[in-house]
Amino acid sequence: MKVIIVKNYEELSRKSADLIIELVKNKPDAVLGLATGSTPLGLYKNLIAAVNTGEISFKDVKTLNLDEYVGLDGTHNQSYRYFMNENLFNSIDINIDNTFVPGGCGDNLEEICANYNFLLDTVSRDVQLLGLGGNGHIGFNEPGTPFSSTTHVVTLKPETRKANARFFNSPDEVPTEAVTMGIKNVLDAKSIILVASGTEKANAVNAMLNDEISETCPASALRLHPDVTVVIDEAAASKL
Ligand code: GLP
Repeated sequence: MKVIIVKNYEELSRKSADLIIELVKNKPDAVLGLATGSTPLGLYKNLIAAVNTGEISFKDVKTLNLDEYVGLDGTHNQSYRYFMNENLFNSIDINIDNTFVPGGCGDNLEEICANYNFLLDTVSRDVQLLGLGGNGHIGFNEPGTPFSSTTHVVTLKPETRKANARFFNSPDEVPTEAVTMGIKNVLDAKSIILVASGTEKANAVNAMLNDEISETCPASALRLHPDVTVVIDEAAASKL
């Protein structure tokens, strides 16, 4: 595992974007596993800038996102599909049909999960981008999730709903469930980049890197993967 500690959020966004820009330059039809949350926003801005200057193109790139809230369709402004369209896809030259986010709506969530697992098994990801939850979650794989998990429906922990409430009009509006890639799906990507910023992630960063590898900290599973780059700022590294 490679750990890169940078000064601040701006440098984190630059460094992590550069890793993806390099990948797309070398492999124009790369398959990218993408993530939502506030941490990758700066990274996405840098990708948009790289497309605008003609440095890279996403016209042959495919993307598969980590997760989606149950009950929010793609037009809801807090759905992760909406987030991706607004913060990346609408501003780059990607074919929207080549962008995949697990569906969070529909009568048969089990079928949605099975179809997403099939997609993940069929299309091999060159990289999976991850943020980090304050409790060590990756995607929406909360503490206690088996490392063998594949795409599944999760009940969100109160602390996760609280952390994400800042994006909703009221805490009650935060969905109680989500569909997420499982930890096995995450580990199946050829490489992984995790980004974390700020002191509120410092304990989780320390647990991910230094505690025993266990389901208590889902992100500790990344130490089982041969090609992981962790990009964190000094604040997130402050407990190391
Ligand atoms: C959410 C997402 C995760 C994300 C995490 C951290 O719960 N499901 O994929 O990594 O929040 O988000 P942020 O980057 O906003 O701190």
